[in-house]
Amino acid sequence: MSAFNDSEVHLLTSTWALVEADLSSHGLNYFQYLFTEYPEVQAKYFPMMSMNDVINLGAHGIKVLSDVGIMVRFVKEKNDLELVTKINKVTQNHCKKGVGLVGFKVVTKTLHEYLVMSLGANLTPEGGKAWKKLLDTLLIVVEQELNRKDAQ
Ligand code: HEM
Repeated sequence: MSAFNDSEVHLLTSTWALVEADLSSHGLNYFQYLFTEYPEVQAKYFPMMSMNDVINLGAHGIKVLSDVGIMVRFVKEKNDLELVTKINKVTQNHCKKGVGLVGFKVVTKTLHEYLVMSLGANLTPEGGKAWKKLLDTLLIVVEQELNRKDAQ
């Protein structure tokens, strides 16, 4: 059982392969986009990383996009349980850093915008919808995990 159908799996994996082919550039470019659009997010969560610190920001970008790649792999394997477990772990790690739902909303929104911009014609409207579904799923799971932790 999977929340994603064959067509969505194909759209997600084929477009992610384009990102993975140059993960370091995309990692850096995504964070530069995030910091340009949301300077307050940089100031609050990443005061140690400057927009022009290509080495550190690029290294961080690779780590974050690699985690997204792991999520795409679970989608490809149609393993919803592992996908949810992975998102729960990211939620817990980030909760300790003071990152809550508002931060995740910004990151999922800007990541979608970044994919649309950087993939251009390689991301069809259907591909864009498949990414929206994955990122919306991520947000739903994050919210559930944060609520579960609050109730503890
Ligand atoms: C798609 C969602 C996200 C993924 C996959 C992700 C992934 C990661 C990974 C792999 C790391 C490095 C390992 C670790 O420290 O846990 C990390 C660190 C970090 N993340 Fe995220 N992250 C996400 C969302 C966010 C959001 C929404 C924020 C804040 C708005 C954020 C802020 C941070 C910070 C401040 C660090 C520590 C950076 C450092 O000290 O080097 N992340 N993230």
